[in-house]
Amino acid sequence: MTALHIQGGVPLQGKVSIQGSKNAALPVLAATLLTRESSWIRNCPQIADVRHMINLLQSLGCQVQRANEGFVIDSSRAEACRMSGEAITGMRSSLCLLGAMLGRFGEVVMEHPGGCVIGSRPIDLHLKALRSMGVDFAEEDGRLMGRVSRLHGADIRLDFPSVGATENILLAAVMAEGNTVIAGAAKEPEIIALCNYLCACGAVIEGIGSSVLRILGGVSLHGAEYVVPADRIVAGTYLLACVGCGGSVLLENAPCDQMESVIGIAEAMGAKCQKDCERTGAERRPEYGWERGIYVQGPKRPLAITKLRTAVYPGFPTDLQSIALAVLTRANGRSVVEETIFENRFRVVESLRAMGAQIEELGQNKVSVRGILGLKGTQMEAKELRGGAALVVAGLMAEGESEITGCAYIERGYENIGKDLRDLGARIVSV
Ligand code: UD1
Repeated sequence: MTALHIQGGVPLQGKVSIQGSKNAALPVLAATLLTRESSWIRNCPQIADVRHMINLLQSLGCQVQRANEGFVIDSSRAEACRMSGEAITGMRSSLCLLGAMLGRFGEVVMEHPGGCVIGSRPIDLHLKALRSMGVDFAEEDGRLMGRVSRLHGADIRLDFPSVGATENILLAAVMAEGNTVIAGAAKEPEIIALCNYLCACGAVIEGIGSSVLRILGGVSLHGAEYVVPADRIVAGTYLLACVGCGGSVLLENAPCDQMESVIGIAEAMGAKCQKDCERTGAERRPEYGWERGIYVQGPKRPLAITKLRTAVYPGFPTDLQSIALAVLTRANGRSVVEETIFENRFRVVESLRAMGAQIEELGQNKVSVRGILGLKGTQMEAKELRGGAALVVAGLMAEGESEITGCAYIERGYENIGKDLRDLGARIVSV
């Protein structure tokens, strides 16, 4: 797919099944390196970042087979080698191979990991924590080299609950001698997913889901079968699209227990959301056959949000900020959106303005949006993953036709955004 063509202004109607989570699948795939057996990782999303991670694992000598909706990965013959090329520099989550390689081989050489251009994205917290576990790091010509003769457990306090740093420490700590405590750990559902996979392989981790994780080191891990949870960010994207366009949609398998803040914001914008009808006892909708998921009824026009502020989990996710911003350009009133996690998440503002959106910058990480009735469709270029999805949502809401190029960014995280939205009645084609 090189571009998406959208005929906007159509309320959404229908149902879509939510894919597996990108940010949960990637560290779990990296973690398969720690066992010397086969693991079956099911419900892996079919996206570019997963393909890159699989390529990296294969380049390390892992045998990978497709199995139904996932992969069987046998890492018994994996060997340490230098990792480079687009798969590393183009994907931020290749960074979790840092902890996995150190845990398995005691050494790692990799090009500086890339990812979306949404901020400077330093890795100081990763390096400081891994150093405290005995790793020596050096950087040369853009390459990061780490070596440790014996990883040892450590008491680590993270100054910020970094998702990636928590993942890397976990991956090293399960292989270390002695126990590790991570205070100030990230609590994102993707951390829970990684812990659950590691525990299925035999690891012992206490405090899962809390900000203090205790990891018993030196337990030998075996292979396991693991099902990747549904993607809360993809579900949130389609939920917000329905808030922006109106209509009613069913998001099958959406992990509503991980989406409280997003559902709260959607409701504050005037949507009605019913969750997991079996559990809440809400009316069953046999025509949809749904048991788990979210049924959303979008408002005619979204209401403004006095202040939408991103935060670490369980706060409003930074990955949905630009999509919420796109929706608020149509809201009835003035909203303020503040980004607190990444400094460069407002790259969509220029394109939204080109569609007629009234957005004013209030300092580097805050904008004020005055909602207007009709955005106008136009030609836009995606420059990063979630910003690209925000442009798609803006195109759906706008009058007339929009064309979005740069879709390779969007494909890093969405299996098939065009088809999903067509299933929801949108007039969108990939060309
Ligand atoms: C992960 C997610 C990303 C999500 C983010 C926050 C993956 C592949 N990506 O990214 O989609 O938006 O969590 O939920 O799972 N920081 C430092 N030093 C460090 C590490 C991080 O200063 O060593 C800063 C970052 O620059 C950023 C903030 O901490 O400002 C959050 O980063 P982090 O939680 O590490 O996000 P990622 O793991 O990169």
